[in-house]
Amino acid sequence: MTKNIDWGNLGFEYTAADYRVTATYKDGKWSELKLTDDPTVHISECAGVLQYAQTVFEGLKAYRTSEGKIYTFRPDLNAQRLIDSANRLVIPAVPEEMFMEALDMLVKANEEWIPPYGSGATLYIRPFIYGSGPVIGVAPAPEYEFRMMCMPVGPYFKGGAKPIVIKVSDLDRAAPHGTGNIKAGLNYAMSLHAGEIAHAEGFSENMYLDAATRTCVEETGGANFIFITKDGKVVTPKSKSDSILPSVTRRSLMIVAKDILGLETEQREVLFEEVPEFAECGLCGTAAVISPVGKINDHGKEIAFPSGMEEMGPTIKKLYDTLTGIQMGTIEAPEGWIHEIK
Ligand code: PLP
Ligand code: COI
Repeated sequence: MTKNIDWGNLGFEYTAADYRVTATYKDGKWSELKLTDDPTVHISECAGVLQYAQTVFEGLKAYRTSEGKIYTFRPDLNAQRLIDSANRLVIPAVPEEMFMEALDMLVKANEEWIPPYGSGATLYIRPFIYGSGPVIGVAPAPEYEFRMMCMPVGPYFKGGAKPIVIKVSDLDRAAPHGTGNIKAGLNYAMSLHAGEIAHAEGFSENMYLDAATRTCVEETGGANFIFITKDGKVVTPKSKSDSILPSVTRRSLMIVAKDILGLETEQREVLFEEVPEFAECGLCGTAAVISPVGKINDHGKEIAFPSGMEEMGPTIKKLYDTLTGIQMGTIEAPEGWIHEIK
């Protein structure tokens, strides 16, 4: 049974599903996980998250396969990244086993919200941990909540697989050796103003350059870059200063490219100067999957990729088809990539 929803027309928006999983951290330990149907949280007005943005999160998806199974994709990497993010913001980490238990509980309880196979929609899962206890001097909060919620979503960018146009931002996303490599709410608060500017000017997203020298490509507000060279190599930027989020999608695509598609791959510094030389460009992430980029606007000067504005370039299309095939169970996954919930 699934909910009666127009799955094909969903955007990337919040819907309160029936259940979410929560646990609280108090006196040095995590409570048991529990399911609740209450979509509202009740916290101190002086909570660490409200005063000093002490919150970290994750994003992953559940997929219904053609055989009616329910898959999640490499959730162990999300569990580990949440631990890394938590450590950086002095938030008590949720151990991997607890994360996996919460994931199974959440997805099973909300099974009716998982979009049908082939509908174009998926179940987006958002785990997060935030400081719920009061602090007024700058310090870690005394208490925390871990919550995992989920919602059915469609494409992150309007138009789905249609190429988008992005701009080079004049504002920076992350400082060198700052928090760009973790999934902290504060990184996204930082990006809102630049995002509004881009949208007002008619662009879908921002390309951020490295903040120190503004010569190298880093990432966008919510996805990593992949580029395809004219001779078919897959290139992804490496940060000069550890300020790119280690995307699960990008790390997986680099393996898909090399081991399944037999393509050459490179993770290296990518100079902004060399971007016009690439044949294809895409943004990759859980929400974005792979969104092709048709053009990049650099202060009025346009970089137009040969793949054009009509459809994905051929190599990005192959990567997209293989990755989504693995996630939806039509292509055999590398060992350990699929966590089957049912
Ligand atoms: N970069 C940023 C800043 C993100 O917010 C995301 C989204 O999670 C990604 C990259 C893509 O990461 P992943 O593929 O793990 O979803
Ligand atoms: C994701 O892809 O899961 C993200 O978190 C990106 C964005 C929605 C913040």
